Amino acid sequence: MASTTTTTIALVLATLLALTISGARGQPAAPGPSPAPRNLTAVLEKGGQYNTLIRLLRATQVEQQINSQLNNSFNGLTVFAPTDNAFNTLKAGTLNRLSQQEQVALVLYHVLPRYYSSSMFQTTSNPVRTQASGSNGVYTINVTSTPSQTNISTGVVDTPITNTLKSDFPLAVYSVDKVLLPYDLFGSKPPAPAPAPAKEKPDKTPTTDGPSAATESSPSAAVGLKGRGAGWSFVVGVGVMGIVGSLL
Ligand SMILES: *[C@@H]1O[C@H](CO)[C@@H](O)[C@H](O)[C@H]1NC(C)=O
Ligand SMILES: *[C@@H]1O[C@H](CO)[C@@H](O)[C@H](O)[C@H]1NC(C)=O
Ligand SMILES: *[C@@H]1O[C@H](CO)[C@@H](O)[C@H](O)[C@H]1NC(C)=O
Ligand SMILES: *[C@@H]1O[C@H](CO)[C@@H](O)[C@H](O)[C@H]1NC(C)=O
Repeated sequence: MASTTTTTIALVLATLLALTISGARGQPAAPGPSPAPRNLTAVLEKGGQYNTLIRLLRATQVEQQINSQLNNSFNGLTVFAPTDNAFNTLKAGTLNRLSQQEQVALVLYHVLPRYYSSSMFQTTSNPVRTQASGSNGVYTINVTSTPSQTNISTGVVDTPITNTLKSDFPLAVYSVDKVLLPYDLFGSKPPAPAPAPAKEKPDKTPTTDGPSAATESSPSAAVGLKGRGAGWSFVVGVGVMGIVGSLL
């Protein structure tokens, strides 16, 4: 009896100590040495140039959907991540013209309902189904791939995969330099080529929600994110601190 109590007290103390340490590092105690995060947002934050996509994922609540799918899916997921620059070079108002439902479809169009390593793309037959759908059914992309390069075609946009951010079942995340515009939403009236930027912008703004994002019209305005800017910057800050903390 006494020894059971002692053991219990020791366990409680050990737990408290562990909680204190993990609290000080701003991270829940993670099991095992550096577990690969299967958290899309964490992968994108680490990439550093996917802030618009992260905001869209949040605003459309696709982030939640993806995280729970990653948890439950036998097939995994593949995500194409357009850079902030890809969103910036969209013709002004491109996203604003979409209904909320179409904005969700646009985001889901960047998600494939299974995990593809880059070698798996070489054996995929076209068209490849995405997670987006509309009145005409499931939206698709075409993929052409060699060992050295993978190209994606939507029928409106052609772009290569430029970088692998993560490829580790169940999650693959590939960087692309263009927003994948679904043929079903943009095919009948292909958007004019993006005009030269009207205003010179600072090259790389470190903030996620600087004045340029607010005046820039499309991505943030489209999903009514302006009001959330401050809160979101805070979340990003904490997230980055978390990542940095986990590396220390
Ligand atoms: C995923 O990562 C983000 C940013 O690091 C974090 O805010 C979020 O809570 C994480 N979600 C899950 C389900 O772990
Ligand atoms: C993942 O699944 C576990 C167990 O099924 C559950 O407790 C947890 O909340 C899930 N996490 C997410 C992000 O859905
Ligand atoms: C990808 O597209 C580029 C540019 O159009 C082309 O040069 C290249 O051959 C394509 N690669 C594949 C694997 O289709
Ligand atoms: C995609 O591939 C299918 C099958 O090869 C083809 O019929 C279709 O025209 C292609 N679409 C585009 C947009 O390249």
